[in-house]
Amino acid sequence: MSTKLISVRVDPPLFRGELSPNKARRSIGPVQVPPMSFSDLLRRRRMVRDYQEQPVEADKLDRILSAALRGPSAGHSQGVSLVLLQQAANRLRMARLAGEDEWVARGYPAWLSRAPLHVVLCAEPQCYLQRYAEADKAAANHQWPVPYWYVDAGCALMLLLLAAADEGLAAGFQGIHNLPGLGAALEIPDQVEPIGLVTLGYAANRKGGHSVARGPRPGRIHFEQW
Ligand SMILES: Cc1cc2nc3c(=O)[nH]c(=O)nc-3n(C[C@H](O)[C@H](O)[C@H](O)COP(=O)(O)O)c2cc1C
Repeated sequence: MSTKLISVRVDPPLFRGELSPNKARRSIGPVQVPPMSFSDLLRRRRMVRDYQEQPVEADKLDRILSAALRGPSAGHSQGVSLVLLQQAANRLRMARLAGEDEWVARGYPAWLSRAPLHVVLCAEPQCYLQRYAEADKAAANHQWPVPYWYVDAGCALMLLLLAAADEGLAAGFQGIHNLPGLGAALEIPDQVEPIGLVTLGYAANRKGGHSVARGPRPGRIHFEQW
């Protein structure tokens, strides 16, 4: 007789607002809530474009920003920087740049203007050029076949998104292609490249964007050779 293995996945309970799943374990006395596993965290992370008004606690924000800058960086150049926008007027400015009114007219939620926090992710190529001119790196005669500042910015983005999910928060990413004039609006120096804007807050609605309907693209793992 063959035995069928059935796997049942139980999502850890979420404490909307007051507690993050992982912190809950330490904060609610004798009741033991299992921490969110890495695979649950990955599953839970989604780009969220609709937020509650509820502000984000300062300690959570601190942990998320620290996590974002805790990633690897080429030559430990650490050329990723963040610009935090907490004031409503500044967030509204970003929403205008992104043409939010037009999206709302097409039936989408007001995304950037409602999200209680914006984090603009920036890359500083100069940090890498200087670092790779140092004695231990210069011999490589670096031609930048891959500009590592974009790689590092991607690492920081991923950490930011996962740290937000770990704190029971939601995050979304608005690419720079849809934020014309952001650099000038925030007085970002010419040699610094803004990569995009992360929204942070408590989710009002976790409905995915229209691109998610594309579904998974198969055949992306190759064995031994392409
Ligand atoms: C580099 C990059 C740029 C993106 N730009 C936008 C954007 O401008 N607007 C948007 O709504 N989502 C943007 N996204 C989010 C993607 O649409 C989203 O990650 C994808 O549809 C998969 O959905 P999920 O992250 O919720 O799993 C961007 C994501 C990345 C990584």
